[in-house]
Amino acid sequence: MPVVALIGAQWGDEGKGHLVDLLASKARLVVRYGGGNNAGHTVVNHLGTFKLHLVPSGIFDPATVNVIGPGVVVNPEVLLSEIKDLEARAVSTAKLFVSERAHVIMPYHVMLDQLQEESRGEGKIGTTGRGIGPAYADKMSRTGIRVADLLHEETLLNRLRVVLEEKNRVLTRLYNAKPLSLHDTYLRYLDLGRQLSDHISNVHPIIHRALEKDFPVLLEGAQGSLLDVDHGTYPYVTSSPPGAAGACQGAGIGPTAISSVIGVLKAYTTRVGEGPFPSEIEGPEADVLRQIGMPWAEVGTTTGRLRRVGWFDAVMSRYAVQINGIDTLAITKLDVLDTLETIKVCVGYRLHETQLEYPPATVAVLSQVEPIYEELPGWQTPTSDIRRFQDMPEAAQAYVARLCQLVGARLGIISVGPGRDQTIVVNEVF
Ligand code: GDP
Ligand code: IMO
Ligand code: MG
Repeated sequence: MPVVALIGAQWGDEGKGHLVDLLASKARLVVRYGGGNNAGHTVVNHLGTFKLHLVPSGIFDPATVNVIGPGVVVNPEVLLSEIKDLEARAVSTAKLFVSERAHVIMPYHVMLDQLQEESRGEGKIGTTGRGIGPAYADKMSRTGIRVADLLHEETLLNRLRVVLEEKNRVLTRLYNAKPLSLHDTYLRYLDLGRQLSDHISNVHPIIHRALEKDFPVLLEGAQGSLLDVDHGTYPYVTSSPPGAAGACQGAGIGPTAISSVIGVLKAYTTRVGEGPFPSEIEGPEADVLRQIGMPWAEVGTTTGRLRRVGWFDAVMSRYAVQINGIDTLAITKLDVLDTLETIKVCVGYRLHETQLEYPPATVAVLSQVEPIYEELPGWQTPTSDIRRFQDMPEAAQAYVARLCQLVGARLGIISVGPGRDQTIVVNEVF
């Protein structure tokens, strides 16, 4: 049975939540493997519109088990409030489990993320301010607090005593901020652990039993490959590996268990936050892509920031296909291009007199490249109600086929609207 990793192949917000919701009914298990509440996954289905930050987007299928894996950094307050909201809207979270091994985003992580951003001034990254970078940094420095620690009074107190001493020194001496009280922080996180205790589990047996039994498993990506800490547009990246390798590491499964890697790509490109974006556009064309006023307008799901928009960048997306072993593409938001007379696709970069086929490694060079565009005819027909590939306007078929050819993977799914049913499955995933 397939184990499918569904990953963002641009700079995030490709529509991963939409597709996980669609595919969850075929999976027995959905595992969110990385990132934290920097993610914002929108799901539009028969139950309404949901914006999820930590809970996997497979939660709407009552038969599916949903796991927040060891690679995720968890803000317990955000998770509890998400669980409460879902339950209030009659979505059961009885089959939601969070790994004991996942790291906890503590209040000092959020404070430090924001203070560090302020101190970067012009060089700010444009983080979501949710404490993601500092939480992953502590995990690597081995000073993190894990979900399991919240359930063990003595461990929590001992770890907090050591960590807070250091954090308070940094907060007060470096940033002139207020220190955090050991007593209050300890009691607050102990209480959060108690509130979450029904969901906290050693998720390894859950995941491995599913693999042994050959159940279909879906690994839910957060962020996008171009935000990868190793392979992305460093330092304008997130602090985790959002791709296929991160799926293995963050879920705790081997690469040989993965049968397919689906790369989710918008039919154009967006980016939130700072950093290079060669095919970025501004002006009236950008407004068409932004779709302001529509429910799916390009406004950040987590922070409400306006997303930067641009043409499809085949250089970046091909790179994402290569570093992740993506075999299948899900191309989303095709309907957003419905009104355009012609559509540009970036097929290469020009740097002085040379043409580049791969993204350069440094921001300094990447900021200098000129995109080389190919112009394809638009279809100027609404596509939102189309459900079969053969019913799509010819120019739309040709556009999608060209994207697949340029990036080097087969077409799996096209989406033409935010709703669960607004999808065209060309090649079955499960
Ligand atoms: P994610 O982070 O990858 O899950 O994506 P987001 O939820 O942050 O952003 C995707 C946005 O596009 C959401 O508002 C979705 O409801 C919307 N969306 C997803 N697929 C489609 C589509 O095919 N067409 C349109 N118009 N909107 C879509
Ligand atoms: P989903 O899962 C889009 C971006 C931030 C910033 C950079 C670093 O919804 O696709 P961080 O807070 O992670 O340290 O910020 O990464 N970013 C995202 N952009 N979608 C996301 O998640 C993102 N998660 C982080 O905007 O540029
Ligand atoms: Mg998002």
